[in-house]
Amino acid sequence: MKTVLYPGSFDPFTNGHLDLVERAGLLFDRVIVGVAVNAAKSPIFTMQERCDLIRESCAALEHVEVVAIDGLLVDSLERLGADAVLRGLRAFSDFEYELQMALLNRNLKRQCETIFMMPTLKNSFVSSTLVKEVARLGGNYQEYVPMPVARALGKKLGVEK
Ligand code: PNS
Repeated sequence: MKTVLYPGSFDPFTNGHLDLVERAGLLFDRVIVGVAVNAAKSPIFTMQERCDLIRESCAALEHVEVVAIDGLLVDSLERLGADAVLRGLRAFSDFEYELQMALLNRNLKRQCETIFMMPTLKNSFVSSTLVKEVARLGGNYQEYVPMPVARALGKKLGVEK
């Protein structure tokens, strides 16, 4: 039974994230989406809202769990009995930060392995930050996020169409 922990701030969960959860489900028996606090970011959705939206977005997928995590990622990995961390890589620009995190996590816990997966090309330029910006500026954000997220984002930003 192999379990992977997919951590992130998911503010909000995008089609790129969903793509990765689906891909991970083909390789692992259990995929845990760990909704975390990123000290460098101020989310617009609460932890509870983010967890609920991911649950709704992944409702059709089996063996996917969504949990809120806090503290060090390596401690959550151990507590949840996960075998590896999953992170998405979209572009070269992601690489430096991801490499740093993966190496730091392995330094904190020797057995902490990070696996990187790439989303499909059409999701490669999607990021939570850009989706929020497009939505705020009146653009068409709905095609980049699962339906429950599109509804919630429209409401949250007062830009429902
Ligand atoms: O989606 P994000 O914001 O890029 O996710 C970053 C996240 C939440 C995975 C990262 O900030 C994290 O692991 N936070 C938990 C605290 C921790 O362990 N920090 C050291 C990681 S190198």
